[in-house]
Amino acid sequence: MDVIEKIEQIQRRCEDLRLAGKILALVPTMGFFHEGHLELMRVAKRNADAVIISIFVNPTQFGPSEDFAAYPRDMEGDLAKAKNVGVDIAFTPSVKEMYPEGFQTTVSLGNLTNHLCGLSRPGHFQGVTTVVAKLFNIAKPHLAVFGQKDFQQLTVITKMVKDLNMDIQVVGMPTYREPDGLAMSSRNTYLSGAERKSALALKKSLDLASGMYDRGERDAARIKAAVEETILSHPHTEIDYVTVCDPVTLEDVETLTGETLIALAVRVGKTRLIDNCLLGSDSK
Ligand code: PAF
Repeated sequence: MDVIEKIEQIQRRCEDLRLAGKILALVPTMGFFHEGHLELMRVAKRNADAVIISIFVNPTQFGPSEDFAAYPRDMEGDLAKAKNVGVDIAFTPSVKEMYPEGFQTTVSLGNLTNHLCGLSRPGHFQGVTTVVAKLFNIAKPHLAVFGQKDFQQLTVITKMVKDLNMDIQVVGMPTYREPDGLAMSSRNTYLSGAERKSALALKKSLDLASGMYDRGERDAARIKAAVEETILSHPHTEIDYVTVCDPVTLEDVETLTGETLIALAVRVGKTRLIDNCLLGSDSK
């Protein structure tokens, strides 16, 4: 596996691969790999001739009071895991390489970012779309693989690709979970033992919503209230949002008619966790 830090170098390497007729897949990451990340890489591997990952903790998607400095990092461990999965190239730029002095261009979306995490993390999605657009321009992959745990991120990136006519297939993969149901996240490492138990509230509340839906409940307010009650019955939890919405527009719904997204963000102690499920679809 090649480890490349410089943009010019990886651009040349990817161009050579494309000219040789290879299909390229990109998995953008912020590192500190868990099985969920590795699964995205395996999917990329199955669908492409060459897999490129990026490991870059992107400062522009963190708010001033968020955990950029504390975000867990393990470059050596990550590179070993990626190599083991069969990744061909790891792109590991510095902040200066990605945002040199004088950098001033951003990519931002309209309405899609005025929902869910976009409301509680102003500027977050502009940071995500700008860095992902840069990574797409740098690697020019044929496909890019993302997890569905951050459903809004996947929706926003898919829309950016469509609106800006980027010739890239965006592939979304189901959330990878611990055996007890907790969605895998690099931030799970922040949780104390007691908080780790309480964090199960997220999946439990989504399962409850799914059960209500299966029994015929279609009233969004009643589902939302039951989800909130389940979460708050666990200690150390504070709800950021629970939203019942359209999975394409992310607009709230009152009545569940077609496929519907339940998305939540919950603080467990100081750690902000997100999770979601789709109701009314095969992939719930
Ligand atoms: O999901 C992430 O890890 C990040 O938001 C991403 C897509 C790598 C952009 O920094």
